[in-house]
Amino acid sequence: MTSETKIYGLIGYPVKHSVSPQIHNAAFKTIGINAVYLTFEVKKEFLRKALDGVKALGIKGLNVTIPHKVNVIKYLNKLTYEANLIGAVNTILNEDGKLIGFNTDYTGVLKTFETYKIDLTNKKIVLLGAGGAAKAIAFAIAEKASSLIILNRTKRKAVNLVKELNKKLKVNALGNSLTFKALKNSLKDADILINATSVGMEPNVNQTLVAKELLQKDMVVFDIIYNPLETKLLKEAREIGAKCINGIEMLVQQAAEAFKIWFKIEPPINEMRKAALKSLTGEES
Ligand SMILES: NC(=O)c1ccc[n+]([C@@H]2O[C@H](COP(=O)([O-])OP(=O)(O)OC[C@H]3O[C@@H](n4cnc5c(N)ncnc54)[C@H](OP(=O)(O)O)[C@@H]3O)[C@@H](O)[C@H]2O)c1
Repeated sequence: MTSETKIYGLIGYPVKHSVSPQIHNAAFKTIGINAVYLTFEVKKEFLRKALDGVKALGIKGLNVTIPHKVNVIKYLNKLTYEANLIGAVNTILNEDGKLIGFNTDYTGVLKTFETYKIDLTNKKIVLLGAGGAAKAIAFAIAEKASSLIILNRTKRKAVNLVKELNKKLKVNALGNSLTFKALKNSLKDADILINATSVGMEPNVNQTLVAKELLQKDMVVFDIIYNPLETKLLKEAREIGAKCINGIEMLVQQAAEAFKIWFKIEPPINEMRKAALKSLTGEES
């Protein structure tokens, strides 16, 4: 580090378990950028002051995580189409003191399907969850899908998300509560199942929302959880021969997109992927 080192980082609460520093610092090292990526634990009541600090200290870019993705919007000068559509920001660019908000989860999920050569056009998609990540995913995929069924433990949130989708886009979407019956009905002819809930995440690795008997061999099962890399849902989907995608690609793709926004150059995505895998598994890939 020198007096010229530029600062980037993540604001959220908590941020201790984030792998973003490893991913971005690996990218900086690979390209030879004189920058460092840090985490900043910011409580809700300090969000405004933190953003004033970003401007005052000349911090060049930030990622934003729980619980600030929505509340941060009121302190920004401009939003991109995606951030405005979703109503949440996960990346900020400080452009000469003006803060611009982006949502790279939107692009991250689309790039993930692209990487796995999965065309979403005319697919019947079942999305579990209606939280922050599910919302970004729903807005990214809804227009391409022939139908989107959103199932959530709290039915009201699924229904509200569908209302928002209908208000802003031309979609064929339905929201319901996440019950065995609803899962059974919607999964019998689904092409793609996406788990965007936290069920199955460390430490509750023995949990899954979908009984194995409801999974189909010709389905794509995408679990956005990356810790563990193979959730119980993905293990059971693999066992029956379904195509499986874990959460690491989306994590890396959203980070790569943020890198592109900050530096306006192609990100070293292979190095970023290796760094993510190493920090999650402790192993070199
Ligand atoms: N791969 C990636 O790049 C990426 C990006 C973002 C997030 N993620 C992962 O995605 C997961 C969700 O993140 P988020 O930011 O969307 O969180 P969030 O906003 O807190 O939403 C959590 C979701 O999980 C549901 N849920 C939680 N516990 C449940 C349970 N016991 N049974 C049924 N549903 C349950 C919630 O349902 P209710 O509405 O009923 O509470 C809600 O839909 C986390 O594991 C996170 O690590 C991955």
